[in-house]
Amino acid sequence: MMYPLIFATNNANKVREVQSMLDPSWKLITLKEAGIVADIPEPFDTLEENARAKAEFIYQSTKKNCFSEDTGLEVYALNNAPGVRSARFAGEQGNDAANIQKLLHLLDGNSKRNARFRTVISLLLDGDEYQFEGICTGTISLTPRGENGFGYDPVFIPDGSHQTFAEMDITSKNIFSHRKKAVAKLLHFLSTYHGQSKN
Ligand code: IMP
Repeated sequence: MMYPLIFATNNANKVREVQSMLDPSWKLITLKEAGIVADIPEPFDTLEENARAKAEFIYQSTKKNCFSEDTGLEVYALNNAPGVRSARFAGEQGNDAANIQKLLHLLDGNSKRNARFRTVISLLLDGDEYQFEGICTGTISLTPRGENGFGYDPVFIPDGSHQTFAEMDITSKNIFSHRKKAVAKLLHFLSTYHGQSKN
């Protein structure tokens, strides 16, 4: 049996990452596949609220089971900035190069470069919400390195590696990835779920 589940994001990189982690009994449906073209709002100050808002937004228009995720980079020396504002840190939404430049500039000369990625997934299943968190700790590199991945990957070195995420292939990134940890919790939950969707 295949159980359809919409992933409420327009980020093709995230879809590719999550697809590479999914158990085949749940069929991941992208917004594009669901025929939904929408700019999903992220108006809140916490990852938890934004993740919920995104899932609810899609649930309202589809009435189908769905999940969303929101991720932030939290840099300790910057009081956990950019955090929930990671995508628009340098002003313009989703300008990865400008965001990285701003981050490196703010940390210039600072040897305290510890940071973490935090992902929150919000699942709306049979009308109830469930949240799952994944954390990856690491450090911010002095300069960008690598061509893979997206966002802050070229400057994030996860603990336990000497490479940035952008120097890794997707399989290696998944060994450390915040998103992978949150998705693993989601998948574990789904594999033990015996509610309405599985009747
Ligand atoms: P959002 O979850 O789409 O709001 O992403 C927030 C910001 O974090 C964006 O700038 C993303 O590019 C960045 N981001 C999210 N996940 C990752 C990741 O796995 N690696 C690097 N940057 C990420």
